Amino acid sequence: MAGQAQLFVQGEFMATSRKWVGKITIACAALASLAVLSASARAEDTGPATFKAKCALCHGPDGKGDTQVGKSLKIPDLGSADVQKESDAELTTVITNGKKQMPAFGKSLKSDQIMDLVVFIRSLAKKSAQRYAP
Ligand code: HEC
Repeated sequence: MAGQAQLFVQGEFMATSRKWVGKITIACAALASLAVLSASARAEDTGPATFKAKCALCHGPDGKGDTQVGKSLKIPDLGSADVQKESDAELTTVITNGKKQMPAFGKSLKSDQIMDLVVFIRSLAKKSAQRYAP
């Protein structure tokens, strides 16, 4: 009798654990597809679009600060050596916390978006280097 009960309990346990394995497998698959989704979102690179939407008003579409606001606030050319010599971390801090007349974007942008903006700012340097190359 006792042996039978034990067998039954064991069988029951196996069945439940199999159910759990199934659930965990589904959860893993869901997580994996989420990871793939966010990877493709990252690969999309939100930098140019975010810059156009949030920064171009002051910095101009090419980051040169050649705008009405840019001139009155004396905004530096983001592709210039002065800005480019700052580290990624420094640029991230400026965008997140602001600096003098430059507004803070830490609340309105996700850290991924700010990272993409830093990448975009780096691309501005490459462009002007190409333009001025002999
Ligand atoms: C309201 C106008 C305005 C907007 C919008 C704006 N900026 Fe600025 N930004 C400024 C000003 C003004 C400065 C110069 C700050 C100073 O005096 O050092 C600046 C400076 C910077 C610098 C250089 C900082 C340094 O240390 O040299 C970076 C990088 C920058 N902005 C990135 C951005 C990004 C990215 C966005 C969009 C998310 C943005 N800015 C939106 C006005 C603006």
